Amino acid sequence: MQQASVKDMTDRYGVIGNPIAHSRSPDIHRLFAEQTGEHITYERILATRQDFTQVVRQFQDDGGKGLNVTLPFKHDACELVDQITELADHAGAVNTLLLQDDGTCIGANTDGIGLLRDLKKSLQLPLHARKILVLGAGGAARGIIEPLLGERPDILLIANRTKANARAIADTFQEAGPVWGCSLDEIPSRPFDLILHATSAGLQHRELALPAGLVGPHTCCYDLMYGDTPSPFMQWGREQGAERVVDGFGMLLEQAAESFYLWRGKRPDTAMACRCLRPQPPA
Ligand code: ATR
Repeated sequence: MQQASVKDMTDRYGVIGNPIAHSRSPDIHRLFAEQTGEHITYERILATRQDFTQVVRQFQDDGGKGLNVTLPFKHDACELVDQITELADHAGAVNTLLLQDDGTCIGANTDGIGLLRDLKKSLQLPLHARKILVLGAGGAARGIIEPLLGERPDILLIANRTKANARAIADTFQEAGPVWGCSLDEIPSRPFDLILHATSAGLQHRELALPAGLVGPHTCCYDLMYGDTPSPFMQWGREQGAERVVDGFGMLLEQAAESFYLWRGKRPDTAMACRCLRPQPPA
């Protein structure tokens, strides 16, 4: 009998989105695989709104075992799955697909867990009884609201360009804690402990018009996005005098680690991954 080669035992994973060329997920998952001794490949997959479902199905038919789903397909992915975790269902956003051997597909959302791990474990930031402002009411924001409310903040205000979208999310999670929705210009001018930026304005190189007075000496400004250079939101946070200004690289690592765990049953070392992979500021 022939022995199976490592190539035969190698499982295929990837990240699907649009745009996708900038994604660091392949580097992250390759490092996780090295750390844990798992044999996987991980690729970037570009799709359009029209062919998203077909591309996922084709990937599964070709033997793919799992996908991370990123902008702008987190909501579309909810429609495609056969089973969905409670957290992803409530959020209306899926960022992890588990492609089963029987052809079915399970959807999960690891964004909230990833954010909480970064805030609590890496940044040692308490959330209980704190005032939290979330900017944005799209897929990225939806995934983090319920986990944040689980930390029992004093208030969680969702502010968005389109007020109705912020109100809709607040209504969805009303039972889970003290959450409200408003438009960007209705944000009360008083300091928040934590301001989370979850809009896609930065991707279009647009700046948000935010009222003054939101940042106090102990405010942490946290951008869910990450990049080689500080985002306009991070620059704004610095200008406003925030105590800490943080990008979403830690969250990216933590949500990826949770996806990896769902796929492979092994927990990677994210602190080590952060030291290896965090973009270095220009010298
Ligand atoms: P994602 O999955 O990354 O959240 P999305 O679902 O398309 O992407 O949501 C994008 C978010 O960014 C929304 O909150 C959007 O506001 P609207 O609900 O008003 O569309 C916000 N957004 C996008 N471009 C923006 C801009 N130029 N200024 C302010 N908010 C913007």
